[in-house]
Amino acid sequence: MQVTLAVLGCGARGRNTYGTCLLSMGARARVNAIAELRDDRRDAMAMEHQVQPELVFTDAEDLLRRERLADAVLICTQDRQHVGMAIQAMEKGYHVLLEKPVSGSLEEIRRLLEVKDKTGRHVVVCHVLRYTPFFRTLHGLLREGRIGEILSIQAVENVGYWHMTHSFVRGNWRSTGETSPMILQKCCHDLDYLVWLTGKRVRSVSSQGSLSYFRPEKAPEGATMRCMDGCKVRESCPYDCEKIYLDHPRVGFRSGHTGWPLDVVALCPTEESLTRALMEGPYGRCVFHCDNDVADHQTVQMEMEGGCAALLNMACTTSRQGRELIICGTLGDIRADTESNQIRVGVFGREPEIIDVNRLASDFSGHGGGDRRLLEAFLDLMEGKGTDPALTTLEESLESHLAALAAEKSRLDGGRKIDLEEMRHTGGGA
Ligand SMILES: NC(=O)c1ccc[n+]([C@@H]2O[C@H](COP(=O)([O-])OP(=O)(O)OC[C@H]3O[C@@H](n4cnc5c(N)ncnc54)[C@H](O)[C@@H]3O)[C@@H](O)[C@H]2O)c1
Repeated sequence: MQVTLAVLGCGARGRNTYGTCLLSMGARARVNAIAELRDDRRDAMAMEHQVQPELVFTDAEDLLRRERLADAVLICTQDRQHVGMAIQAMEKGYHVLLEKPVSGSLEEIRRLLEVKDKTGRHVVVCHVLRYTPFFRTLHGLLREGRIGEILSIQAVENVGYWHMTHSFVRGNWRSTGETSPMILQKCCHDLDYLVWLTGKRVRSVSSQGSLSYFRPEKAPEGATMRCMDGCKVRESCPYDCEKIYLDHPRVGFRSGHTGWPLDVVALCPTEESLTRALMEGPYGRCVFHCDNDVADHQTVQMEMEGGCAALLNMACTTSRQGRELIICGTLGDIRADTESNQIRVGVFGREPEIIDVNRLASDFSGHGGGDRRLLEAFLDLMEGKGTDPALTTLEESLESHLAALAAEKSRLDGGRKIDLEEMRHTGGGA
């Protein structure tokens, strides 16, 4: 059977990530229909997947108004559009692969669950980390009981200074009102894996954090509204747009890079297209003079069922990226780091064992290999080949979203402890 798909939103996720993965999967799946507001992205996606012109739509609403055009939809539009599109899609009979975050409103997530139950459709949420060899190995070790019962977990999400400014100061997710609070947008993945690794629900949450640095009053003297408009402090500013998008040793164009985030700045990144975009577009703005309001640092303390504690540090201004974890159990501890892809298992009284995840798989592209494996798990489900035990269903995703919304509520309320049981039953105003 060939799975047919309709892709709603052909941007970084819809086209560049899932579209590219699908092209490498041969006849297993086919993109039958697409919708994309932007002409350049729509044309590129239609051409790459050879979509028939009558099944190429500008607005996803028009696609969804038609009778069902595929087995499933991939909803890759912006955060606030997910729920409405998912409901319409399920009512038309589509199964749904839904980008995270599902929604910033518990009521909306509950409504989505109701429609899912009523229509009997599958909804898989893109918590890609669960599908990576790294987190699968970690999960397996914990389930084997290698370190006994988990008492505490400390997790750091190193966002990376340039990723922070790209997405959460200059870019798409800089404003809570337009998309989501950063703890939901960026860390629903972390909250999801914390729940999954511990196998426990969250009982209460408290959180601290703020937007303290990327604000106009922190702009150095001589900073202009745009980096390339004669800014006097460019040389000393690590957030200068040219330093990031052109000269950065890992992601800059002049270092030979052309993928994300450059393909967000310009559809076909070249020195000329990037320079033009930086001179005119949002990614060339001074990081102290953007219309951003999401936090630039936040910590979340969680009390889990059964007396286990978890601490998450959303560390935004970091030189490195990736996740670091310390998990303390009754019989040992685990220290793990996605940057090195290594897991150190320290069972008390024994020499520590180092597990090099790099040796356990070959494909680590796209979120440590998670993007492709998520898509494969979704296609397995569509093909009736069975359900991945770690499948990120909508029901599973509810817990991480609940924790993120509680964390934001706590942060805005001076770090007050929020009882999740209460929120679970009442909605808690989130
Ligand atoms: N799972 C992950 O790890 C992960 C990573 C990054 C982003 N995301 C999520 O994926 C979603 C998309 O992010 P992105 O980076 O691809 O954003 P993007 O802006 O690059 O792509 C979204 C696309 O949707 C299109 N669009 C908007 N409204 C539309 C409509 N009514 N009809 C048709 N097209 C429409 C836009 O033109 C845009 O091209 C976001 O919700 C984001 O949070 C998830």
